[in-house]
Amino acid sequence: MTNARIVIDRDFTIADVPRRLFGSFVEHMGRCVYTGIFEPGHPQADARGFRTDVLQLVKELGPTVIRYPGGNFVSGYLWEDGIGPVEDRPRRLDGAWHTIETNAFGLHEFVDWARTADVEVMEAVNLGTRGVEEARALVEYANHPGGTYWSDLRRKNGAADPFDIKLWCLGNELDGPWQIGHKTADEYGRLANETAKAMRFVDPSIELVAVGSSSRAMPTFGSWEHTVLTHAYDEVDYVSMHAYYQESDGDAASFLAEAVDMDSFIDGVIATIDAVKAAGKHRKQVDISFDEWNVWYQHGLDTDDQPHQVSKAWREHPRLIEDTYNVTDAVVVGTFLHSLLRHGDRVRIANQAQLVNVIAPIRSEEGGAAWRQSIFWPFARMSQLATGRILRLAVESSQLPTKKFGDVDAIDAAATWDEETGTVALFLANRSLDEPGDITLDLHGLDAIRVRSAEVLTVPDGDDRFAANVEQDQDRVGLVALRDVELVEGALRSTLPPLSWAVVVLDVVRS
Ligand code: AHR
Repeated sequence: MTNARIVIDRDFTIADVPRRLFGSFVEHMGRCVYTGIFEPGHPQADARGFRTDVLQLVKELGPTVIRYPGGNFVSGYLWEDGIGPVEDRPRRLDGAWHTIETNAFGLHEFVDWARTADVEVMEAVNLGTRGVEEARALVEYANHPGGTYWSDLRRKNGAADPFDIKLWCLGNELDGPWQIGHKTADEYGRLANETAKAMRFVDPSIELVAVGSSSRAMPTFGSWEHTVLTHAYDEVDYVSMHAYYQESDGDAASFLAEAVDMDSFIDGVIATIDAVKAAGKHRKQVDISFDEWNVWYQHGLDTDDQPHQVSKAWREHPRLIEDTYNVTDAVVVGTFLHSLLRHGDRVRIANQAQLVNVIAPIRSEEGGAAWRQSIFWPFARMSQLATGRILRLAVESSQLPTKKFGDVDAIDAAATWDEETGTVALFLANRSLDEPGDITLDLHGLDAIRVRSAEVLTVPDGDDRFAANVEQDQDRVGLVALRDVELVEGALRSTLPPLSWAVVVLDVVRS
């Protein structure tokens, strides 16, 4: 039997929950924008062409901030192509995804969509083919009230008020040889520093994210962050992290433990940031924007899904990396969210990549339906329920052997305490494929009054761990009531099914 004893203490907290941890990502890639969030002519599109069925699912998912417009796409993108009368906008070749970009959707449309969806905009600038001037002009266009060339052009294009975009990414994955405009760390560090400075001269209130490593496996990981921050520490607020995971060779045990890798990847970046801080005698703290993360089945990718594939004809919004997610993926995604939350004192922004169709929690068909993938559920619940303070947990869990990480905790957990709502939210994953998990939660400094709600995502009856939601069967995998949960002498006792992700909310008072 798998089991874990978890202890929380009202006084042992990590940080306020950074609400930007529950971010997402909309790239001009595949069908994320076109036929994803935007499809004029769809029966459920509004007058602006926004799909209201998708918008409704986005609101239910609850992302707080959305990175836009890329991704690899941004490194060849001219933002001016996406403003002004739609009929005058140029059609362009997007080399990153071998796609024809119509520019029917651009900055104004995205800001309008984001306001409708009630999410913050996180805008990326092109530091692949472009530089200081175009980034500076974009900040003026977006954020300056008026009376100058770029701000008046925005007004002329229909937006009298500034977009007031606070969060900006200084390029995307420029450490990667696949990136248009790939750079060395020294080249990028200098450019990031100078671009940041010029952008802040236009609007000193903005927050800036420097490009970190595209993955922990990059040969330059560590030295890239060190060099870039040595150039740009004082000008930037965050350094980015990107990570994608997948099950390989049927090794489910290692896949289910990948949050161990995420934990140590984050710890490594924190150590590097702090080394630069110490060496440079800087006073301010740079934090982390984990602005691309997810499960992504990259092994055996259709060649069409690879960046820069020229094998196929140029097309508009082709189907790219539309992964279908199963129960196992949802449990893993739950553990990634736990890892991000446990690091909430330093990981202040995180964006699941991406929002719709492209490795996404939401799927949609052109002219057809929209539905939730399995991975929708842990994100939706954590975005909704992780509020207040992040609790520092003491966890004693039985162990599971894995090929990649040795023995790991069978039960993975994270928790928050919200004094205003008088609740503790406990997020749990049982990594065991065949054993239920007995959980005991002891509370110090808090009295548990009752179990407010308890839900679990697991393998549906009569199904297997590969069960997934598909167009013809959209609700096969979801959350159901967790029945085995009770308060015994002030402690929470629960039993989780094998391979499951669960959330329990307790009403609590200070003791
Ligand atoms: O999210 C898909 C792609 O993954 C992004 O365009 C890129 O930044 C990353 O490599």
